[in-house]
Amino acid sequence: MKKLIGVALAGAIVAVGAAWFFFWPAPLPAVALSAASPTGQDLIAKGEYLAKAADCAACHTAPGGMKLAGGLAFKLPFGTIYAPNITPDREFGIGAWSDAEFVRALRKGLGRHGEDLYPAFPYTSFALLSTDDALAIRAYLASVSAAAVPSRPNDLWFPFNQRYVMRGWKLLFMPDGPYAPDRSKTTEWNRGAYLVEALAHCGECHTPRNLLFATKSDAKFSGAVVEGLKAYNITPDRQSGTGEWTDAELAAYLSSGHAEGHGGTSGSMAEAVNLSLRLLSAHDIASMVTYMRTVPSLPSTLAGPVERSPASLASSGPWTPQPTTASSEGLKIFQGACASCHGWDGNGQQSPSASLRGARTVNDPDGTNLVRLILNGVHMSSPTGDRNMPSFAAAYTDADVAAVSNYVLAHFGNKAGQVTPGIVAKARRD
Ligand code: HEC
Ligand code: HEC
Ligand code: HEC
Repeated sequence: MKKLIGVALAGAIVAVGAAWFFFWPAPLPAVALSAASPTGQDLIAKGEYLAKAADCAACHTAPGGMKLAGGLAFKLPFGTIYAPNITPDREFGIGAWSDAEFVRALRKGLGRHGEDLYPAFPYTSFALLSTDDALAIRAYLASVSAAAVPSRPNDLWFPFNQRYVMRGWKLLFMPDGPYAPDRSKTTEWNRGAYLVEALAHCGECHTPRNLLFATKSDAKFSGAVVEGLKAYNITPDRQSGTGEWTDAELAAYLSSGHAEGHGGTSGSMAEAVNLSLRLLSAHDIASMVTYMRTVPSLPSTLAGPVERSPASLASSGPWTPQPTTASSEGLKIFQGACASCHGWDGNGQQSPSASLRGARTVNDPDGTNLVRLILNGVHMSSPTGDRNMPSFAAAYTDADVAAVSNYVLAHFGNKAGQVTPGIVAKARRD
């Protein structure tokens, strides 16, 4: 039934889109910096900071490719979209675009010639940007090295390859920008809301989507599965969200990727921290925490409660597991491959940031993020030295990864892990 409604809705949206195609000439408003905006180098520096907060480079840079010269592939059920070259190259990048065309791309999701862009480009967030901030980002992008690299064309099925199809969708789901401050709240709260909603686009990963791939406004930040990873509930719910975290813990997690008593980070969140969040000022991080504290608390079935002090940790030493454990395949693998960095008592061996105590990922019986982390490893950048966990994909079989995952879930989370070799095999293919 849900599928049928989805198909009917999609049909309706295509029809609305086709109708608007003929009647919606998009006027291009002139844009200019306000008198309050910095200029010259200061404007470029401001734009560089905002581009980091918005993580433009994460999507627009391919692994090993030139910065901002085009990048990630977004695999959708109806084809693949590629992030284009946004360096100042006049032929292949956006060097020949006018400022007005650039601001319109961010705020309206339209390409240079008014064609509709796909929302894999998070313009539903960027629509909230102020004109001054959009122009600052423009000034920064104009200052980076031009890359003469053609963008890879999208590869989508009919009718989704018809860009006007997006018009109906945008009509329904585009917010009315730019961000309007809530005068009943503090300046800090408003700064946090602007950073979270307009720039950092946390909801693009943490908010579940409806049948039309739009984020559900009534389930905001309550957690979603993105590219095989659980982007957990980040509302203040006590069980499945961040209700048990202190402000300082939340700030530490966002700015370093680790919070004592809540574990570390991996996958796309590690990337968001490495490339974007850790580079933000302490004041901006604190503002984001202030705002996140006030979003409606929602429960989620994505992940269950976290056990912070299982007996197995209290009775283990840093170098030895609790004496009562029966030896198992998983324990042996943990001993050989993991214990030197993580230890047995939950406190972390290589560094305090390798502590696993209280981590959501070692408390989720599905082991969804855990399996991917073991297969892919993780790299965290930090001013005091980078932290690395190697990839174990080549070293271990599916059965090995399943065994060590279930061992980790039992030992660190007191959970009955449900990981099977089949689940690991599937995670390798994704
Ligand atoms: C989550 C990934 C993601 C992020 C973050 C992102 N983009 Fe994009 N962007 C895309 C994708 C994908 C497209 C292509 C959409 C399409 O083909 O319709 C795109 C398209 C664009 C375009 C249109 C280019 C063209 O040739 O038509 C511009 C301009 C742009 N992005 C600028 C930015 C800027 C500036 C930022 C940061 C403020 C940013 N993007 C952040 C994914 C992203
Ligand atoms: C060379 C050291 C090293 C080895 C070996 C290692 N890890 Fe890690 N591990 C890390 C680091 C560093 C992090 C990231 C901590 C952070 O985010 O700051 C991490 C993170 C983790 C996390 C936490 C992720 C989260 O989201 O909370 C888990 C779980 C984990 N490792 C399990 C394992 C398992 C299981 C093995 C063995 C198969 C292993 N690690 C081997 C260094 C290591
Ligand atoms: C590109 C996708 C993506 C974006 C953008 C993103 N997150 Fe995440 N986030 C994730 C994933 C995936 C995880 C799970 C990481 C793991 O397994 O260690 C996560 C984990 C977290 C956690 C830990 C929750 C827990 O219970 O352990 C917090 C807190 C968090 N994110 C907050 C944020 C905030 C705030 C923002 C915006 C500033 C944000 N995230 C943006 C994907 C994302």
